[in-house]
Amino acid sequence: MDHFTYQNGILYAEDVAVSEIAQRFGTPTYVYSAATITRHMTVLQAAVSGLQTLICYAIKANGNLAIIEHLARLGSGFDAVSGGELLKAWKAGVPRDRIILSGVGKERWEIELALRGGIRYLCAESREELVLIADIAQALKMQAPVVIRVNPNVDAKTHPYISTGLKKNKFGVPQEEAMELARWVHAQGSLKLVGMSCHIGSQITTLAPFEDAATRMAQICKTLIYEGIGLEHVGIGGGLGIPYRADETPPEPKQYGEALVRILGPLGLQIVLEPGRVIVGNAGILLARVVRQKPGAERPFLVIDTGMNDLLRPPLYDAFHQIIPAVEAPLDAKFDVVGPICESADLMGRDVPLPSSIAPGDVVAIRSAGAYGFVMASMYNGRRRAAEVMVDGDVARVVRARDGFDELWRGEFHWDGTAADPQVPATI
Ligand code: LLP
Repeated sequence: MDHFTYQNGILYAEDVAVSEIAQRFGTPTYVYSAATITRHMTVLQAAVSGLQTLICYAIKANGNLAIIEHLARLGSGFDAVSGGELLKAWKAGVPRDRIILSGVGKERWEIELALRGGIRYLCAESREELVLIADIAQALKMQAPVVIRVNPNVDAKTHPYISTGLKKNKFGVPQEEAMELARWVHAQGSLKLVGMSCHIGSQITTLAPFEDAATRMAQICKTLIYEGIGLEHVGIGGGLGIPYRADETPPEPKQYGEALVRILGPLGLQIVLEPGRVIVGNAGILLARVVRQKPGAERPFLVIDTGMNDLLRPPLYDAFHQIIPAVEAPLDAKFDVVGPICESADLMGRDVPLPSSIAPGDVVAIRSAGAYGFVMASMYNGRRRAAEVMVDGDVARVVRARDGFDELWRGEFHWDGTAADPQVPATI
């Protein structure tokens, strides 16, 4: 459920008309609903209330500071995948013991930052990485809390680009090796094995892969505990899908929670979840204005002022995002909705039902854009990244200003070596 609804034919974000947001802040603009984020987080919290849990929101889905802060107030922990995301969590004032660090390519500086920062644990993805963590911890004269990410070889049945739990994927350690590695870690003085974890993919729309992965994780943990290797956590990752289409029915958080309680509950460990999309995906829309209609061979094009540089999901994953007008009218025409980018892949929606009368300047909303939207934006084609606005009841405020044109050349140097932006020191 979200708070982007029509009221008397006008599309609202909570209690603010989206056309008013477009008017005030321009387009393209991402609009987030605080009430929707709250709802998604509290529904998930309630779904796993039968377990001792740590919900670590995956910052990668949407790393805006205001969103991190809002979730922190709701009691969320955070999953960072880079030193940059760690710094964002710290900037947002998140308590360090509610932060974990994942990622297949952690570098020395990131490990050091995490250890010095005193985060809950690092989720390691290979023996090589664990050797480095041990080395750094030794130099810092501390014991590094680590979790091993298992690759359980479970098919998440999602888009291949966002499937991560198969043997052929780069993530984690195969189950058999993970057990052996856990025993090795347990014997290292500078490492403290605090748990085992997995993440099998994203936008998963059936329960079975989660049940499968959880069952494997339960087995692994049970064996290790039996061997006297004390664990505190078992991580099950993120991945719960959301309905992008009205007829999509991913598992309800309640069903997901019940499965976890049933399978992982008996372990008596703290269950760590890393949800991203399910919290913010349907809590955001991307507002755009129509540039013009243009005749096309198959059907007319509707050219809008946002494209793949703002929302990469449609071209990258062939992802579907509903596109709706800000003012309700009969959907009596079909368009291929395209952006201004010089790529044929810059297709935001194919065969989209919209009013035939739709005209330059009209506002449309691309739905389900709160996750993996702004965070994947680029400045391709000399485009400034969009503004981000948070709505909370009847208040709408900017949580990230649209890039200025100076962003397009910040850090660049003229041919004669002088900095294009005087704030950049000319010493590089
Ligand atoms: N934990 C780990 C270790 C992850 O790699 C991910 C997502 C998550 C948690 C959060 O997964 P979620 O609950 O959001 O499904 N850009 C793609 C999605 C990439 C997901 C990467 N990992 C997209 O737009 O669909």
